[in-house]
Amino acid sequence: MTTTTIPDTMTAIAHERYGEADVLASAELPVPTPAPDQVLIRVEAAALNPADVFLMRGRPRVLRLAAGLTRPTIHVRGSDVSGEVVAVGDKVAHWRRGDRVFGEAASGSLAPFATAAAGRIARIPAGVSATDAAASVMAALAARDGLDAAGLPAGADGTGKRVLIVGASGGIGSFAVQLAAAQGAHVTGVCSTRNMDAVRALGADAVVDYTREAVTDLPAWFDVVFDNVGAVPMESLHALTTPTGVVVPNSGLDGPDGGAIMRVLRLHARRILLRRRYRGFYSAPSTAKLEAIGRSLADGALTPLVDEVLPLSRGSEAMARVASGHARGKVVVTP
Ligand SMILES: NC(=O)c1ccc[n+]([C@@H]2O[C@H](COP(=O)([O-])OP(=O)(O)OC[C@H]3O[C@@H](n4cnc5c(N)ncnc54)[C@H](OP(=O)(O)O)[C@@H]3O)[C@@H](O)[C@H]2O)c1
Repeated sequence: MTTTTIPDTMTAIAHERYGEADVLASAELPVPTPAPDQVLIRVEAAALNPADVFLMRGRPRVLRLAAGLTRPTIHVRGSDVSGEVVAVGDKVAHWRRGDRVFGEAASGSLAPFATAAAGRIARIPAGVSATDAAASVMAALAARDGLDAAGLPAGADGTGKRVLIVGASGGIGSFAVQLAAAQGAHVTGVCSTRNMDAVRALGADAVVDYTREAVTDLPAWFDVVFDNVGAVPMESLHALTTPTGVVVPNSGLDGPDGGAIMRVLRLHARRILLRRRYRGFYSAPSTAKLEAIGRSLADGALTPLVDEVLPLSRGSEAMARVASGHARGKVVVTP
């Protein structure tokens, strides 16, 4: 049973224009009303992702077709959320007030209250903290989906497979290292000097410090190259694979492949025209996928690498940390 009284307004972190993290500021906004197929969540934790940075910047510009041509139509950023259901839409049968859930917020999670579609949340298992649950939405799902796309699906025995994870200390990479290692694969993580111990602790068998050794100097012996950074051309990563190995170029950032849209076009062109082994994926949450992540959190198979937990009033700082491209795991914000 919930004890939460829902106020009319809330102090959220919002922006009126596109730009860097300094466009974000505290603002008094109406508490959102859930649509018929949504719930309203009293936020206990929010976690940030590069996708939130893209929406804050309005870049790549093509995003503005959906997010607002000249200014953002949704003013509150943040997608990953965990908390307590305090209201349900008319068509929601599965959730009740008082349920503790995690998943994808529709109205922005850098706020005390956020709406979420009923099919994009799952129950937080007993013993799992709100911080860990929020930290495990987009990044853990993308790590799972990326490995699935690479031919190492959940439950498959990865013994004997050699997996290279570029960006192993980032949100997705830190989950991908744990997932691939748990499946028995031999995991090589690429990170900078300061993150080497953390990546080893996640289960990597070998760690490459990209500040001292070029990734492109590695031997051509990987069955899977999962790139979450985009700093090395995908053809150079392809050169590190065995004759049957695959590359998963996963990055929305600018880089030698030309940014998110060009990367996807090149990936498909190389896959189809050159018959090279590239795999792409688009990760979207569902209750079933989140439940699987929740089980892994509950049984200790997955532990999020949390960079820092900041109060909501420091939401702009939290976003700047993610925007730097150098967060160690997840940045979490609590109201
Ligand atoms: N396909 C999909 O559906 C999907 C879903 C979600 C996200 N994505 C994309 O996936 C990408 C990665 O997301 P993320 O959340 O993992 O990002 P992230 O957490 O922001 O990644 C930050 C990490 O990248 C590391 N890094 C930076 N430069 C590096 C380099 N040259 N070599 C190795 N590591 C480097 C940093 O380590 P240091 O500080 O040590 O440099 C830091 O730990 C994003 O571009 C995002 O848009 C795709």
